[in-house]
Amino acid sequence: MSWFTRRQLLAAMPMALAADGGSPVRKTPLRTRHFGPLFYGDEEWTLLAEVLKTRSPFRYWGLERDHAPDKVATFEKEFAARMRTKHALAVNSGTSALQTAMAALGVGPGDEVIIPAWTWHSCLTAVVMAGALPVCAEVDDSFNLDPSLVERHITPRTRVIMAVHLQGCPADMDALTAIARKHKLLLLEDCSQAVGASYKGKPLGSMGDLSIASLQVNKTISAGEGGAVYTNDAAMFERAIRFHDIGGVRPIHAESLGGAKGQPFVGVNFRMNEFTGAVLVSQIRKLDKIVSSVRNASRRVYDGIADLKAIEFRKRPDPAGDLGSYVFLGFPDKDRRDRFISLMNAENVPASPPSGSVVLPTQEYVMSRRAPHPKWPTWNSPEGKAAKYGPESCPQTLRALGRFASVAIDPSYGESETRDIVAAIRKVYPKVA
Ligand SMILES: Cc1ncc(COP(=O)(O)O)c(C=O)c1O
Repeated sequence: MSWFTRRQLLAAMPMALAADGGSPVRKTPLRTRHFGPLFYGDEEWTLLAEVLKTRSPFRYWGLERDHAPDKVATFEKEFAARMRTKHALAVNSGTSALQTAMAALGVGPGDEVIIPAWTWHSCLTAVVMAGALPVCAEVDDSFNLDPSLVERHITPRTRVIMAVHLQGCPADMDALTAIARKHKLLLLEDCSQAVGASYKGKPLGSMGDLSIASLQVNKTISAGEGGAVYTNDAAMFERAIRFHDIGGVRPIHAESLGGAKGQPFVGVNFRMNEFTGAVLVSQIRKLDKIVSSVRNASRRVYDGIADLKAIEFRKRPDPAGDLGSYVFLGFPDKDRRDRFISLMNAENVPASPPSGSVVLPTQEYVMSRRAPHPKWPTWNSPEGKAAKYGPESCPQTLRALGRFASVAIDPSYGESETRDIVAAIRKVYPKVA
């Protein structure tokens, strides 16, 4: 036996971990890429070329009298139809969409908005920019708002519950809708991380009073940047239009509203341009294909590991509605989770701690209550001064984030990539769990 090195011996054993000198499941690391751009093709080229040829980059009018720009307007129509809402407004980012949502929902100084403790900065900054107070509530093992802990944060000042569908997985909309109705609160859905996913057959974004999506490069469909605000409520839609376009309502939107009814008020410029619109028209037409590809890939992974002893998945209120962009696995503690991640990486099948969001109450600028101006209303009110942030305000969220690992799924993964993911998890998980 002496002519074999220890490494060769271990490599010959099928179950020897790569970290112990065995053969890795894959020779090269598996990669995930941005979903939308992965599907770019002739359709995007053709529509972009139309914008260039007609010299009409601005959504409301072009250079040629006989050409009416239509890319952003077409995107709005097709996005609303896909999300099954009456109205959709295109804006230039998800962050702008959230700020527009606050204006549309009538959120302002003195109001409180309940947001998940684990989500993207913009969810909190939109509330602060409206002068209102962000109140962070714990997420559970679904990585979405824990409905059983939401009610404890409701005060007479609460106006909105922000249900953010994080990392592809729908929040428990039945429970959150019931809480909102019981307390007469507005429900805002942030679908940015789950565009195209659904809950009990309904598209995410079709259940709340108003919804938003980011179309930035990490999202399901993308033009690099972009966002949407959508709703069935004409009055809220009119407020969204006015806020995003310096207080006005242009003819195209007045028509879709059957005439504007409200008054102008101070707004901003969050308009989308026609180049972005051209790419997004092409992308919304590919959304179902992207969603079914990533769902199929993640289903093969779930099916391939479901029989592993004591395997713990992320809690999913509607597995069929999950976008499938991540498979989350739970471990009894952080040490085992971290070991799983490092062993998976050695197998060239990357795993990581939950990503794509931040624990808002532990951000330094939040704990220091630092708004754009020292006299900003958010943290100068008695409630703002008393608001609880810091790690001690979200122990359940921190526990969940510390003990789960995620494996990212890419819509381009075929049988061979998902077979490798299954093989790596089957090899590593039993050694760690
Ligand atoms: C949940 C959520 N909301 C809002 C946003 C903001 O979107 P954008 O980056 O397009 O401004 C993001 C961005 O990642 C997000 O994840």
